[in-house]
Amino acid sequence: MDLSNVNVEEIVRQVILNMENKGQGGSAPASAQSKAGASIPKTARVAMLTSLEHFDIKEFPIPEVGDDDILVKVEGCGICGTDAHEFKRDPFGLIPVALGHEGTGEIVKMGKNVKKDSAGKDLKVGDKVVTCMIFKDNPDITMFDLNKQNVGGADVYGLLPDDDIHLNGWFSDYIFIRKGSTVFNVSDLDLYSRILIEPCAVLIHAVERAKSTGILRFNSRVVVQGCGPIGLICIAILRTMGIQNIIAVDGEAKRLDFAKQLGASGTVNFKEYKGIEALAGGVKDALGGHLADFAFQCTGSPVAHSNIYKFIRNGGGLCELGFFINGGDATINPHFDICSKEITTVGSWVYTLRDYATTFDFLKSAKQIGLPIEKLITHTFPLDQINEGHKTNLAMQGLKIAIINQ
Ligand SMILES: NC(=O)c1ccc[n+]([C@@H]2O[C@H](COP(=O)([O-])OP(=O)(O)OC[C@H]3O[C@@H](n4cnc5c(N)ncnc54)[C@H](O)[C@@H]3O)[C@@H](O)[C@H]2O)c1
Ligand SMILES: [Zn+2]
Repeated sequence: MDLSNVNVEEIVRQVILNMENKGQGGSAPASAQSKAGASIPKTARVAMLTSLEHFDIKEFPIPEVGDDDILVKVEGCGICGTDAHEFKRDPFGLIPVALGHEGTGEIVKMGKNVKKDSAGKDLKVGDKVVTCMIFKDNPDITMFDLNKQNVGGADVYGLLPDDDIHLNGWFSDYIFIRKGSTVFNVSDLDLYSRILIEPCAVLIHAVERAKSTGILRFNSRVVVQGCGPIGLICIAILRTMGIQNIIAVDGEAKRLDFAKQLGASGTVNFKEYKGIEALAGGVKDALGGHLADFAFQCTGSPVAHSNIYKFIRNGGGLCELGFFINGGDATINPHFDICSKEITTVGSWVYTLRDYATTFDFLKSAKQIGLPIEKLITHTFPLDQINEGHKTNLAMQGLKIAIINQ
């Protein structure tokens, strides 16, 4: 090696700088760490659900950030159906609880052992992140096997029992991310897209399940039944995949209009038909005289489950994802609905970590083809109006309601 051109002073300066950075603990430049650290307050506001249908804004000290921890300044968080159940009935018995799991924010401080996110991307102070599940007992899963684990049974920030840290949910100023958590660097997505990641991952999973039947293809004729946020996102994903024939079924004209904006080629308002035969005829007409190759059931209504088989052709497929919670029994005729038609059915529940990573690409692609995905967020409230936000959600006045900080 020719050393004649090497600037020794520069090398020494670089080595010292690197050592300083190591001492500070993170992968970010020392200046970024100290600047962000200087602006971190001593306490954070947390919206605690303290009784049914009532949040209190509480103030808690921000704990010391350990070697494996990440402190995130929250920018916003969507209100989910699960939050609505907790707000109304506390079915998981969590009260008092810091809710909010569809959140995102900016890393303001992190421990020296935190270097990469769960997909292997670098992490530094200033990056925008989301969390997924917490695998305290097996953190290796988060790092090395994105495919393996479905979230069922894993812990999730925003649905944790209260503890002495308290900063456990995204309806807050700051959230404290501990070792074993899944964290994704999503700095390349805008705020609304980041808030929509969690519900979108549900539909990425559903579409992956649908694809596993081998029936869903580019030129498939597809029915999406139910145009709440879940059905609407389903339509946007199918459209982003390049599927052209998508018929949306719902009873709300406004939602059906939005389904068209998100990529539906036609709509059917079930309230305009008397009886299932007439409704199936309406769906067939909308599909140009054909029944559907594939259908997605995105309502929590047992009647809607019974109906959907009538929209599907012989040899077609069905993905049932509308029953996140038990909505009761549905009646079908095994001969006509499944056996003689040879229908392939898949169920879909939550998502895997791989689906989370796929969701980031979907959100970028949807924007690229001009789908107004951000319009799914119809109402926003500041943290101190969280009770109003949840009441608006219960009143079903919009689609996705979000709490946005500052
Ligand atoms: N599989 C999962 O992991 C998962 C995750 C989240 C939510 N979900 C489920 O998805 C379902 C939809 O969620 P959402 O947030 O969109 O709910 P939502 O209540 O906002 O939307 C449901 C839509 O279905 C429509 N609908 C009701 N009955 C119908 C019928 N007979 N035919 C056609 N449309 C009908 C309603 O008008 C409404 O627009 C919920 O039941 C929820 O439990 C499942
Ligand atoms: Zn959710």
